[in-house]
Amino acid sequence: MNDTPDIKHTSELTSGDFTEAHDPFALFATWLAEAVASELNDPDAMALATTDADGLPDVRMVLMKGFDAAGFVFYSHIASAKGRELAANPKAALLFHWKSLRRQVRVRGPVTPVTDAEADAYFATRPKQAQIGAWASKQSQPLESRFAFEQAIAKEATRYAIGAVPRPPGWSGWRITPMQFEFWHDRPFRLHDRIEFRRPALDAPWTKTRLYP
Ligand SMILES: Cc1cc2nc3c(=O)[nH]c(=O)nc-3n(C[C@H](O)[C@H](O)[C@H](O)COP(=O)(O)O)c2cc1C
Repeated sequence: MNDTPDIKHTSELTSGDFTEAHDPFALFATWLAEAVASELNDPDAMALATTDADGLPDVRMVLMKGFDAAGFVFYSHIASAKGRELAANPKAALLFHWKSLRRQVRVRGPVTPVTDAEADAYFATRPKQAQIGAWASKQSQPLESRFAFEQAIAKEATRYAIGAVPRPPGWSGWRITPMQFEFWHDRPFRLHDRIEFRRPALDAPWTKTRLYP
C-alpha cells in the first residue's frame, strides 16, 4: 500500500478504470494530461530503446515533442548513436514512467524520419541558445574537453549573432508509429493492472488484452 501523501490513487484521477479503455491514443492523451499536472518535471520524457549493429539493445531518455494518431515524435542528431542505430534498424520501443502517478506506458513500432518541413518548424521554436548548441554539438562523438565545446558554441554564436538560426543538416526528428501499447498502473500488494493493445497493420483494429501483473 502506498501512503505517500502526494501520490495519486486511481479514484482521484479523471481517467477512472483505464482497463475499460478501447482507444490507446485517447487513453495515452488522458494519462499524459494527468502527468503534466502531476509530475515534478519533464512529463514528456521517454526512454527510447534501439538496437545496435550487433543486436545489443541501447536506451536513453529523449523528450516527446509531438504525439497524435500518427505516432510519437522526438528530435536529435542524425549522426548520434541513436541516429545511426535507427538508420540500420528503424524500429524502436518507448517507455514513459510517471512516478507521481505510479504508471508506465510502453510503446513499440517502426520508426520513420519526420519531413524536413516538420523538423524546420520545430527547430524554429527552440530557444536561440539551444539552436546554437545544436550546431556546436557533434552528439555522441568524443569531446576533448568542456572548453573545446564552449569554443565551438562561441564560434557558432558569432556566426549566427544576427538573424534566424537555420536547422543544422544533421539534426532532425523521428516518428515511432505504435503497433503495440501497454498501460500499467500500480495497485496495492503488486496486484497491478496491465492492458496491452496490439494491431497487426496500421489500418487494422486494436486488440486489447488484460495481462497478469
Ligand atoms: C530527460 C532527458 C531528456 C532528453 N531529451 C533528449 C532529446 O530530446 N534529444 C536528444 O538528442 N537527447 C536528449 N537527451 C539526452 C539523451 O539521453 C542522450 O544522452 C543523447 O541523445 C545521446 O544519446 P545517444 O548517444 O544514444 O545517441 C535527454 C536526456 C534526458 C535525461
